[in-house]
Amino acid sequence: MFDLSGKVALVTGAGQGVGAGIARALSECGAAVGINDLHPERAERFASGIEAAGGRALDAAFDVSDYASVEAGIAKLQDRLGPLDVLVNNAGIPEGMGVEPFHESSPENWRPYVDVNLYGVMNCCRAAIGGMRERGWGRVVTISSGAGTIGLNLGVSPYAAGKSGGIGFMRHLAVENARLGVTANTVALGLINNQGDPDTTAHIARSVPVGRLGEPEDVAALCVYLASDESAWMTGQTLQLNGGYPTT
Ligand SMILES: NC(=O)c1ccc[n+]([C@@H]2O[C@H](COP(=O)([O-])OP(=O)(O)OC[C@H]3O[C@@H](n4cnc5c(N)ncnc54)[C@H](O)[C@@H]3O)[C@@H](O)[C@H]2O)c1
Repeated sequence: MFDLSGKVALVTGAGQGVGAGIARALSECGAAVGINDLHPERAERFASGIEAAGGRALDAAFDVSDYASVEAGIAKLQDRLGPLDVLVNNAGIPEGMGVEPFHESSPENWRPYVDVNLYGVMNCCRAAIGGMRERGWGRVVTISSGAGTIGLNLGVSPYAAGKSGGIGFMRHLAVENARLGVTANTVALGLINNQGDPDTTAHIARSVPVGRLGEPEDVAALCVYLASDESAWMTGQTLQLNGGYPTT
């Protein structure tokens, strides 16, 4: 089950963290994987690691928020690895994320959250979906956040605006492409253990019903399913992956 041999996947923001975990798992299931990141050295390092482990990978550094770069990057990737079957929109801005109540925020600080978390998803989908439609098979997965669907008093509303925009966009993408063998699903994450401060991490973990934060491997397992033939009847969904944290 979940054999991705012969498939070509692109994971954005895969130079570290959740995206790296997803790319590794797709590779272990047989896919050739494009490793995108804004930082070329991260993409190169991680792609080399996959190749050293016996997988097939190519670094593909570009900025997902810039459509021309996305189009050129995906065209180059397809020239080298073959037509894209699976797109995982994982790039996002948690790194260095500002935390401030909206009434104290500055408009110029909002834009990057929407540019990367919403436009980044739309740009990659626009550049990838045509080929999937023509070939009658495709899988699009977008990594979102619980913050896109529930209100939190954490000062992250611009991030939530970008993430919830992506959720609405993916729902329409799914319906537009459902008859063509192309699925589109969103995974809304709770807090993931990604090198955060250990004290804060331990404190937050206590509020998660299963008693721990998520790991990149937890996310990767769901993405492998969503990238597979077996998930053909799953589309248009936003799957909450959060250790049982309340979402209403
Ligand atoms: N870590 C969490 O607790 C958490 C919770 C909910 C949702 N998420 C979502 O999961 C995804 C991955 O999060 P993470 O914790 O691994 O983040 P991370 O910051 O560790 O990794 C994100 C990667 O994306 C890259 N990136 C950022 N902007 C980019 C751009 N414009 N173009 C290409 N690459 C870009 C970064 O360079 C980085 O390597 C994000 O979409 C995030 O919003 C994370």
